Amino acid sequence: MIGRLNHIAIAVPDLDAAVARYRDGLGARVSAPQALPEHGVTVVFIETGNTKVELMAPLGAQSPIAKFLERNPDGGMHHMCFEVEDIAAAVERLVGQGMRVLGGGRPRTGAHGVPVVFLHPKDFHGVLIELEETGTPLSNKHVRV
Ligand code: CO
Repeated sequence: MIGRLNHIAIAVPDLDAAVARYRDGLGARVSAPQALPEHGVTVVFIETGNTKVELMAPLGAQSPIAKFLERNPDGGMHHMCFEVEDIAAAVERLVGQGMRVLGGGRPRTGAHGVPVVFLHPKDFHGVLIELEETGTPLSNKHVRV
């Protein structure tokens, strides 16, 4: 069912410091920061050739990654995202097997109109999994959290 690993997302407490670490330390080409207030994060993207890494820092008081950073003050791997062709079919399959799809199983529209869902980390060995639909045209593959 799943296809490519689309991205790995890392929550960081200080985006500028994280950018400097990846850019200067690892020689990564890092995109300009993008504020996504509807998602409560500011993100940058690193293209690695076979996938992407997203560095995410909290934006606003209600950031969904604030609790994660309280538990992981230095930052940490927050989720990984796999592509699926048909997200509704994926949700049906997972729910049918008793797995928990967050947000009531309803795909949420990503920042650029791409449907995504998140799967409960307790069903996936402690890792939060994002599924992203590729069956619809992607206007900008990068902007997603
Ligand atoms: Co993501």
